[in-house]
Amino acid sequence: MPIELAKGVYWVGVTDWGIRHFHGFELSVHRGTTYNSYLIMDEKIALVDTVWSPHSEEFLARVRELVDPTKIDYVVVNHAEPDHSSSLPALMKLCPNATVVVSKNGATSVPGHYHENWNFKTVKTGDRISLGKNELVFVEATMLHWPDTMFCYLTGEQILMSNDAFGQHYATAFLFNDLVNQEELYEEALKYFANILTPYTDKILKKIDEILALNLPVKMIAPSHGVIWRQDPLQIVKQYQEWSLQKPAPTAVILYDTMWHATEKMAKAIAEGLIECGIDCKVSHAATADSNDLMVEIFKAKLVVLGSCTYNNGILPSMAKILEEMRGLRFKNKIGAAFGSYGWSGECVKSIEEIFQKSGIPLVRPGLRVKWQPGDADLKLCREFGRELAAATKG
Ligand code: FEO
Repeated sequence: MPIELAKGVYWVGVTDWGIRHFHGFELSVHRGTTYNSYLIMDEKIALVDTVWSPHSEEFLARVRELVDPTKIDYVVVNHAEPDHSSSLPALMKLCPNATVVVSKNGATSVPGHYHENWNFKTVKTGDRISLGKNELVFVEATMLHWPDTMFCYLTGEQILMSNDAFGQHYATAFLFNDLVNQEELYEEALKYFANILTPYTDKILKKIDEILALNLPVKMIAPSHGVIWRQDPLQIVKQYQEWSLQKPAPTAVILYDTMWHATEKMAKAIAEGLIECGIDCKVSHAATADSNDLMVEIFKAKLVVLGSCTYNNGILPSMAKILEEMRGLRFKNKIGAAFGSYGWSGECVKSIEEIFQKSGIPLVRPGLRVKWQPGDADLKLCREFGRELAAATKG
């Protein structure tokens, strides 16, 4: 059933309760997601974004409850990623003469996905399209998180349709921020930010300043995933500003993998050293951890301590996979340290330190290696290592 957000503005998206992996298998979504599409019924009819194609039929049925699709004048494609655009081919068969509104970069990414000769109109920041009583105002949001990303703002009802920004992978019975569990909402909003937007925090800060400088009154922020922010909508903008500063708490994450528990024993002893000094720390086993949840923990913490035994002259594959994810997110304002056990060649610490270097995370001190299983003296050294890291975390 469509949901009316404001006079003449309807949610016609799809709630995907069952999805647990997004972007292929790259992103875990424990609470499902939604693909939000908005239908604006003015003198002209505009549809903002579509849904992922496995859900096209449900989406089109929802549109048809409100309007004959042949009557749609504008289809705004804020972003070509298939979760928002892949119902376009099915939709455009029904309204082949509609104008497809895209950003400058969307003018290549949308045809690059669908290879169709639709009637495209390219817009840039500040451009407006009149729908009759209200206008759509466009704001390019390059690299938040694709080059083509664009926001659009509906005058009159004062709704900012922000595409991925301010979204959450969060399927709920109710569509508005004031009607859902706040703890879950912010958990999902942060997971989304940490895993998708962290590399672009400088751009986010600039973009928010640019949007605020436009002085557009905002009654609602309607992202393309999750709930719509209608109660104090700027709360999520302020939260994005704070997250974008990347000021981690003086806490620690220890992430390790182990074959015969030697590196695990080291991890626990290092944690004891940190805890003795009052540092809150979370210890995770790479082989069983959810890497996206881990990225959230890393996002929040100042100290990242990584351990692996030496395996084939490097580190265990479970660690390598997670560390590649960490490298790509380009976290700021962290400090790090490496540890691991070995039997003969012993490259584990060196391999992890190289990843820290590529990730732009400075080392507190050289890493700690233990040959074979740690004995009492080794474990004492691990605890001392933890205390030293604690001092740097507080400093
Ligand atoms: Fe929700 Fe970038 O797609």
